Amino acid sequence: MSYTVDYDKFYKEDLAACGKPFKEFEIFFKKNIQEAMSVLDLGCGQGRDAILVAKMGAHVVGVDVSTVGLKQLNRIAKKEKLKIETIVSDLVDFKTRKRFDVIILDRVLHIVATEHEREQVLEKSVTYLRKSGYILIADTPLNIISFRKYLKKNNSQLKYVLDNKNYLFVQK
Ligand SMILES: C[S@@+](CC[C@H](N)C(=O)[O-])C[C@H]1O[C@@H](n2cnc3c(N)ncnc32)[C@H](O)[C@@H]1O
Repeated sequence: MSYTVDYDKFYKEDLAACGKPFKEFEIFFKKNIQEAMSVLDLGCGQGRDAILVAKMGAHVVGVDVSTVGLKQLNRIAKKEKLKIETIVSDLVDFKTRKRFDVIILDRVLHIVATEHEREQVLEKSVTYLRKSGYILIADTPLNIISFRKYLKKNNSQLKYVLDNKNYLFVQK
């Protein structure tokens, strides 16, 4: 797959390239993250969300294609003794037998090249989620519309806990 932005370069130039975590995520984490919860951060980048939830006691798996972003994240995790495991992988190829309480897709799905691949990642995320677990998506308004449409059609059991033009948070 080809990636339009060179995230390795972007992350080398700025240790907080994506800025602070979104308020909507912070509010959700404060309310819902508990000690030892398992969190999968797909397209975690430098880990602005992964670090936040790990500081709250969660055990995090972060997946990304950017080795630079993951190295920076590993350095912080080691220094602060956070339970974060990182995996270099394309989300389309990523597979796991683990199941998670929370899966994060923060501003990443729109970068996945085709609609079919984006839907594959969404479908995998539902599969990897424990019962009552959450998928948290932040994306462009146009993509949010198509993700909502896809999930409502194919996963009618999901409950919508936050649903607006920029965010889709669902519970299994
Ligand atoms: C806008 S950044 C967001 C990073 C992080 N989720 C955050 O909110 O700080 C997008 C991230 O997705 C990663 N990415 C893009 N396409 C990917 C793919 N197909 N597989 C894995 N990671 C991908 C990039 O390397 C980059 O780190």
